[in-house]
Parts: sequence; structure tokens; C-alpha cells
Amino acid sequence: MPSVRLVRRYVFSSAHRLHSAELSPEENARLYGKCNNPQGHGHNYAIEVAVTGPVDARTGFCCDLTAVDSAVRRAVLDRFDHQDLNALPEFARLVPTGENIARVVWDKLIAEGLPLTSVRLQETRDNFFEYRGD
Ligand code: NI
Repeated sequence: MPSVRLVRRYVFSSAHRLHSAELSPEENARLYGKCNNPQGHGHNYAIEVAVTGPVDARTGFCCDLTAVDSAVRRAVLDRFDHQDLNALPEFARLVPTGENIARVVWDKLIAEGLPLTSVRLQETRDNFFEYRGD
């Protein structure tokens, strides 16, 4: 049974501040630079969610795209879009770096039961973070 990977792109806009409670103010300023600014800043994030499955002989589909869309909407977009990520419980003990956002999105979509193979988060024109689980 041939397996196909489906990749779907979604966008959301959020604010964040890179700041670790485990570091001193000086270390935070040195490590994160202007991203440590107490007022935070925003990004137009894009996530590319990849799911894989065998192509159903009857439908010709590898995955139920409607189910993927609703899981991403419910678990990620409805929670993160136009929010301050630092104020969300997901990031209470986690610095909302691109690396950690990609991992949190992965965990949320796994919990939704999606047959995930990767989550790619685009933070800026030039920055991407890809997570494929442990
Ligand atoms: Ni940033």
C-alpha cells in the first residue's frame, strides 16, 4: 500500500518575548538581545503540518484533510492566533522560541490523534524550525 505525505500550511500571528526565568537579567539581555525587550514583539508565523498515510483505494486520499484542518484549528490556531505566547500556560515554563513552539505544536497535534510526520514552523523570512518527534 503506497504511503503519501500530505503537507498543509497554516498561518497565525502572535507576540512573544524571549526570556528565561532561569537566567539573570544580564544573561537574558546578552543571549536574546532585542528579542528580550520587555514589551515583546510579533511574528506572522506559518506552520507546515505533514501527515502520512496509505492511499485509500476507494477515496484516493492518504488523510482526511478536513480532520487535519479542524485539529489544527482547534489545537493551535484558536489558541495561538493574536495571543501573547508568554501569557499562555503552554509557555509558562518554556521560552517561546521557534524550537519550543514547533515542539508544542507537535505535542498538541499528536494529542489530537493526527498521523504526524513533521511540523515545520516559519518564524521569519529566513528562519524555519522543523520537529519530527523524539
Ligand atoms: Ni521573535
